[in-house]
Amino acid sequence: MSVAKSTPHDAALLHVTGKARYVDDVPMPANTLHLAFGLSQVAHGTITSINLDAVKAADGVVKVLVAGDLPAENDVSPAARDEPLLATGSVHYIGQPIFCVIATSHLAARKAARLGQVKIAEKPAVLTIDAALAADSKFEEPVTFLKGEPEAVLAGFDKDQTVTGSFDLGGQEHFYLEGQASLALPQDNGDMVVQSSTQHPSEIQHKVAAALGKPFHAVRVEIRRMGGGFGGKESQGNALAVACAVAAQLTGRPCKMRYDRDDDMIITGKRHDFRLEYTAAFDANGKVQALIMHQYARCGWAQDLSIPVADRAMLHADNAYHLPHARIISHRLKTNTQSATAYRGFGGPQGMVPIERVMDHIAHKLDCDPLDVRRVNFYKNGQTTPYHMTIEDSVITPLVAELRKTSGYDARYAAIQKDHADNPDSILKRGIALTPVKFGISFTLTHLNQAGALVHIYSDGSVQLNHGGTEMGQGLFTKVAQVAATTLGIPLEQVKITATDTGKVPNTSATAASSGADLNGMAVKNACDTLKARIAEFLAPQYDCKAADVQFSNGNITLGADEIPFNDAISLAYQNRISLSATGFYATPKIQWDRMAGRGRPFFYFAYGAAVTEVVIDTLSGEYRILRTDLLHDAGKSLNPVLDIGQIEGGYVQGAGWLTTEELVWDDKGSLRTHAPSTYKIPACSDRPQVFNVALFENENAEDTIYKSKAVGEPPFMLGISAWIALSHAISGCSASGEYPAINAPATPEEVLKTVTRLKGESW
Ligand code: MTE
Ligand code: MOS
Repeated sequence: MSVAKSTPHDAALLHVTGKARYVDDVPMPANTLHLAFGLSQVAHGTITSINLDAVKAADGVVKVLVAGDLPAENDVSPAARDEPLLATGSVHYIGQPIFCVIATSHLAARKAARLGQVKIAEKPAVLTIDAALAADSKFEEPVTFLKGEPEAVLAGFDKDQTVTGSFDLGGQEHFYLEGQASLALPQDNGDMVVQSSTQHPSEIQHKVAAALGKPFHAVRVEIRRMGGGFGGKESQGNALAVACAVAAQLTGRPCKMRYDRDDDMIITGKRHDFRLEYTAAFDANGKVQALIMHQYARCGWAQDLSIPVADRAMLHADNAYHLPHARIISHRLKTNTQSATAYRGFGGPQGMVPIERVMDHIAHKLDCDPLDVRRVNFYKNGQTTPYHMTIEDSVITPLVAELRKTSGYDARYAAIQKDHADNPDSILKRGIALTPVKFGISFTLTHLNQAGALVHIYSDGSVQLNHGGTEMGQGLFTKVAQVAATTLGIPLEQVKITATDTGKVPNTSATAASSGADLNGMAVKNACDTLKARIAEFLAPQYDCKAADVQFSNGNITLGADEIPFNDAISLAYQNRISLSATGFYATPKIQWDRMAGRGRPFFYFAYGAAVTEVVIDTLSGEYRILRTDLLHDAGKSLNPVLDIGQIEGGYVQGAGWLTTEELVWDDKGSLRTHAPSTYKIPACSDRPQVFNVALFENENAEDTIYKSKAVGEPPFMLGISAWIALSHAISGCSASGEYPAINAPATPEEVLKTVTRLKGESW
């Protein structure tokens, strides 16, 4: 059996030796041209003149394009058709592409792009959540989920049984190690082959076809791997692919584009930042009775994926907690900044952080262990969510009980509380928090929950595997190859993993919503089952057994008392003209979702997890360290434990980075000032927890998923919330007045110091 085994990532050796090929490493044809965009330096305004004489005269420049030069559609948006490749008449953020330089080298294109003289009549720019609210700048009317009668219930509680608060939650740069990149290769009759670093090859195909004025069949998109996507390559690769394809069509030469890091950070969308406002009523045990939550999402200038991201934030406002009465209101604000996009968790993290704040705030008011408040609020199976879905698969109570024990939470919490009480003046303060995760698995746009596969068995018995999923480091290809090897009963080495290719498997969804292995694993299993059935029907009569009893395992095929090697059987099947190639398909069952009504079953199942983080802060500088982290996560019956643990560790560190050191700063003109690693601080190896214990929770999926596994790509990201809550606990050790340490996110050292200073009653 290949599944459930800890097989290394298929490209691990290539990754660590620098031999793995990314789009920029694909050998280029000799006459390849290179592209760079000229960008808007103004956040909002009307273009009054464009003078590109100096650009055209610059060394190596072959051609320069503006919107009017484009042959067909000028749109790179995923859905709303509101995002031109090149600006038409007006600009909407600093970094918006206005013209495109085509030159003989990457450097020549970049240098020339700086020489454009674009005059823009500035208009007032809406940059912040406050400004968007004041200007009523939004993509749609607020959306509400309602369960029960939260207002009426809240009115029945007095002040000491309610908490109310508001905080800001920052965005996040994806910081994939490989930046956005694309290479277009012109074919006969204007057809196009595109290599694109993308999570969504079919969307690249569609956008390129529309830009060339061709049907989808004229465009083929291929991607072997990305050096990280994290949601940042669901839609943000469209612009590069379309620009390359159009330039290739106009010049007849291959065209390539990659963003340098600064351009990548300035041009592309990031995680949505949010403001959250809450009021909750609770009983003497801290059990929430009613909640009203406002979520304000800063979506940037174009819609991109903001509507479904904001929806998913609403769908995770409960996290693991039963809310008997709840109103969740979502505001989708339009601003003159980068168009915010998908990022690991897809709004789920922004939805979850505030309810963790509410739990913590209640515990502070009741002066009790926050874990006790969390536990009384955990879902029990049979209870319903604010969107009226019944929870049936919750393991949060036993999972948290196990982690509480293995992490030694109780003793450590008690020791820190005692230290806070005994040593109010100590400079170093520790804090600890246990937070849970419940994350819904499925695309909320129901029709996206489908996948296809194509499996070939060659006459020597070797297998070639294709499916619609993309590899971005998460190990999807390894897992799906394990599924093929297990289903066909052959060694993993016999299965060749190939690049994702729209010419092999069509009409695919983005590799997103953590559903890569769930969907593509099932589609591949379906194709392998078809092949097995054909082979069994061919062999069974010759061995006097029933086709249904034929077994495939250990590289052999068992037919009654006989056993023949798989490879020999394949050779025989070939000679007898049996087809050895099959497609496979899968559509997730049971789900249905009415987004307008806010009702239904948007998720096939939930993935669960919990984290304990202990931190120490320096109350004089605001600096801190993560001392120890214990994670326990539910990956169902894991397809590959080492890969899953890798996802859990990486997800946690990325989540903790979001809430601690990763700060995006725009100036008052709307210019992103943190556009390089010098000013934007992602976690480094030295920032990882000093003690880091990660374990898989013994479980199997209650639903019929691929070998009973669960999706693991995004859910562990939200385990990082425990680091943020632990920082707040550490700060509470300085609270002379007993005031709740309400920090914003990210809790940078500056934010920690500000809060410490306020709580000590000192001036900042
Ligand atoms: N892990 C690595 N190493 N690199 C990535 O880019 N993306 C994450 C997650 N884990 C990512 C990753 C995101 S946002 C998603 S949706 C899932 O992987 C997508 O892959 P899956 O569906 O196969 O889990
Ligand atoms: Mo992941 S944000 O769904 O690409």
